[in-house]
Amino acid sequence: MVRSVCMRLLPILLALPSGIAWAETERQQELRHLVKHDCGSCHGLTLQGGLGPSLTPDRLKPFTAEQLAMTIVHGRPGTAMPPWLPFLSETEAVWLAQGLKEGVFP
Ligand code: HEC
Repeated sequence: MVRSVCMRLLPILLALPSGIAWAETERQQELRHLVKHDCGSCHGLTLQGGLGPSLTPDRLKPFTAEQLAMTIVHGRPGTAMPPWLPFLSETEAVWLAQGLKEGVFP
């Protein structure tokens, strides 16, 4: 009985850290740095656009975080947008995309 309650709680406990509203881990602060310095070199320091299009919440509204994450991970072949897979995971890319959509960067 006690054990079965534990087993039911476990997935909830495991899921918790991702559900906390924008508390950033050290790795997420690294990613924030990446957005400013690496993404910013093309998309503009304040993400208003440059060589790449602006990445403001308004502009990104039509896309889901997953769609944007795919672009971040794989890049856009044939354009200047490079694939970022060597530097971040898909989960991190979704987190980044979500942050862009919510306007928490740079
Ligand atoms: C070397 C320049 C360059 C860098 C660095 C770069 N991008 Fe891009 N990015 C582009 C270009 C150019 C496009 C537009 C591609 C196209 O025409 O479809 C783009 C498109 C995108 C899009 C899709 C936007 C849309 O309107 O479809 C997202 C999201 C994006 N970039 C995120 C990022 C993130 C996050 C980073 C940093 C991890 C980054 N980019 C770094 C050049 C860059």
